[in-house]
Amino acid sequence: MASRYKYHIFCCQNRREPGNPKGCCQERGSQSILDFFKKTVYEAGLKDTVRVNECGCLAACRLGPSVVVYPEGIWYTVSSVEDAREIFNGHILGGKPVEKFFMKW
Ligand code: FES
Repeated sequence: MASRYKYHIFCCQNRREPGNPKGCCQERGSQSILDFFKKTVYEAGLKDTVRVNECGCLAACRLGPSVVVYPEGIWYTVSSVEDAREIFNGHILGGKPVEKFFMKW
């Protein structure tokens, strides 16, 4: 089956009530990660080849903010916009997944 995009980036944006023992990616700053990827893909002129989508809980809550990049299916913990920038430059632009941000299951 043909893939529509070269890369597809999913960013968990799930939010839970404060105090919920599971926590959530929103309380760890996932909105700024999503905003960064969307803006950067657009500014780089890649919106036709790289798609960024928010998504619900990816069942990795304690390891978030959770981001998954396809087609490789690489799971990242993206703790800051600076980390997101490294992933964008290394993985999306450079074609090499950035191992230091791989989710540590
Ligand atoms: S809240 Fe983001 S993985 Fe569950």
